[in-house]
Amino acid sequence: PLVLHVLGARPNFVKAAPVVRALDELGVRQGIVHTGQHYDALMSDVFFADLGLPEPIANLGVGSGSHARQTAALLTGLEDVVLEHHPSLVVVYGDVNSTLAAILVCAKLHVPTAHVEAGLRSFDREMPEEVNRVVTDALSDILFATSPEALSHLAREGVDPERMHLVGNPMIDSLFSALPKLDPAPVQARLGVPGRYAVATLHRPANVDDPESARELVDAVLAVAERVPVVVPLHPRGRQRLADAGLVNRENLSIVDPLGYVDFLSLVRGAALVVTDSGGVQEETTMLGVPCLTVRPNTERPVTVTHGTNRLVTPAGLPAAADKALADGSSTPSGELPPLWDGAAGPRIARVIAAWLRGDNLSP
Ligand code: UD1
Ligand code: UDP
Repeated sequence: PLVLHVLGARPNFVKAAPVVRALDELGVRQGIVHTGQHYDALMSDVFFADLGLPEPIANLGVGSGSHARQTAALLTGLEDVVLEHHPSLVVVYGDVNSTLAAILVCAKLHVPTAHVEAGLRSFDREMPEEVNRVVTDALSDILFATSPEALSHLAREGVDPERMHLVGNPMIDSLFSALPKLDPAPVQARLGVPGRYAVATLHRPANVDDPESARELVDAVLAVAERVPVVVPLHPRGRQRLADAGLVNRENLSIVDPLGYVDFLSLVRGAALVVTDSGGVQEETTMLGVPCLTVRPNTERPVTVTHGTNRLVTPAGLPAAADKALADGSSTPSGELPPLWDGAAGPRIARVIAAWLRGDNLSP
């Protein structure tokens, strides 16, 4: 039997690496299909290198486009790959368009699927990712959840409990593996970042696509930069719009290219504060005990607020929240991490998959 992993965007690579490694250790035959949704070296290749992911068996090169155009290219490309390779199981990750397309293709071709990071809900259907999550979970055969509340969301949507598995968080597995390599000093030296600093990442459409929202957000980040030097490894999405709104290099504000996985997390580890609208970064700061201010009206990862260092803020509320976070200082990981965020999610997922491939009864 062959297991295919469909990966397309930066956060997919981080979530898949521990699953691929653990399946390898169980001797499962597998391959990665890279859709090419992310294609810049700094959005893709650097992650394969940093995470030790094997070369993809196919790269579809779908690239960028509107949701309809990108998804259409993903659907046709993935259908060909699945028909060519006849996988026994296709594993999809997270909530990106590559995930949605893979699940639709497999559902129509009657190929079984597993979704890693199932059951997250922001309950905000204006987020493209929320649409992708709901559809993906409705069509997945095996659902791997990172938190107990994800299980309850799935149960409420009518998912059979026999198909759900609480396995912990593979993104945290990757972070555990990287920990010994995380050293802020060389990255600070290379980027000219001083001793005490904040890191910001911004790419959510609701924040960066509309000029008015972008301006509000940039004003808030500039206010933070008056309090502490800010370094922004900037995602390509909205780069121009944020620059037009004033997010440009200036005293105490450094705009840099996206960073590789190890460099980025090194910088986060040494930061006094993180400002973000990313999904994964909310989890990583919780694990690292670094204060995180998430500039969004909601989160699909509330466990990072209840168990972690994350706070939701509006742009207008960001400067005061930054003052408070900087004054309170960072909290070290206290053993109160969310349940099963222990670095062993990949092996748990691999054991379920291997048992499923053998035809074992999977009832919990
Ligand atoms: C996608 C995901 C989002 C995730 C993010 C992670 C969807 C709907 N969104 O958003 O959930 O948080 O990835 O980073 O799948 N671009 C480049 N180079 C690249 C990739 C993208 O320049 O390698 C630019 C293009 O202008 C493109 C834009 O970024 O139009 C957006 O890329 P896209 O993959 O459509 O969505 P993301 O915003 O990256
Ligand atoms: N990340 C990175 N370099 C960066 C910004 C983010 O390596 O410059 C990593 C980050 O540590 C996390 C993942 O990329 O593992 C999150 O991706 P992103 O924020 O793009 O997507 P989201 O989680 O919002 O879907």
